[in-house]
Amino acid sequence: MIKKYLVVGSLFIGSFYSLYSQADRDGFFGFFGSGPGVEPVRNAVYLEECGSCHFAYQPGLLPSRSWIRMFSQKELTNHFEEDITFDDKALETQLLDYLTMHAAEKSSFKRSRKIMRSLPYNASPLRTSDTPYLRRKHGEIPKNLITQPDVGSIANCEACHRTATEGVYEEDQIRIPNAGFFNYDDD
Ligand code: HEC
Ligand code: HEC
Repeated sequence: MIKKYLVVGSLFIGSFYSLYSQADRDGFFGFFGSGPGVEPVRNAVYLEECGSCHFAYQPGLLPSRSWIRMFSQKELTNHFEEDITFDDKALETQLLDYLTMHAAEKSSFKRSRKIMRSLPYNASPLRTSDTPYLRRKHGEIPKNLITQPDVGSIANCEACHRTATEGVYEEDQIRIPNAGFFNYDDD
């Protein structure tokens, strides 16, 4: 009996230890599947296929219904005026699976939750920047700072969010190019 408790006890301590060291390696948030931003992209196929023309938007920036809509044949043939239809159907399925499995409503990351909370239940925007939450967050940026050559479009997340590729959009990591003294603090 005592031996049994010892075995169970050391298993318990053992798993606790590996939890701890894993958390240390991946960063506290990475391990527990939540954090202040959105879940970063860790999928090489996605990075290659959906990161060649623009920043590889994290799946957690939109709900799965938006990704499903984006992958309809109609939308794929006219993806913001580009035809991105896939000849390889297996690849198409693989990408859509990745997007829907990591979509905003499945995520416990803070920004994904805020995006979901801001969205009417029947809205499936194709632009992350069209979600009410991000529209509000970006609402006060002067137009000329968005259209300037160093940025070009609000879809160019990385131009202002220096840590966008890590899924981190916190205020202290924002720097709008040539913004001078424009103060974007809305608190
Ligand atoms: C052939 C080039 C090309 C490829 C490949 C491509 N896109 Fe795009 N995508 C665009 C263009 C152009 C825009 C519009 C960008 C802008 O408004 O500045 C865009 C915009 C987007 C936006 C909206 C950004 C926003 O929030 O405003 C999302 C989301 C998006 N793409 C996802 C994807 C996904 C997912 C894939 C992979 C299946 C993909 N794209 C592959 C060209 C491409
Ligand atoms: C022209 C520069 C610029 C571009 C481009 C831009 N952002 Fe922002 N973003 C900002 C500013 C400024 C804020 C406001 C910070 C505040 O007032 O809280 C912000 C806020 C945010 C926030 C909330 C962060 C916080 O701490 O409140 C998120 C999330 C975000 N942006 C995501 C995106 C995504 C995703 C894209 C690309 C689709 C994008 N942004 C493109 C400048 C930009």
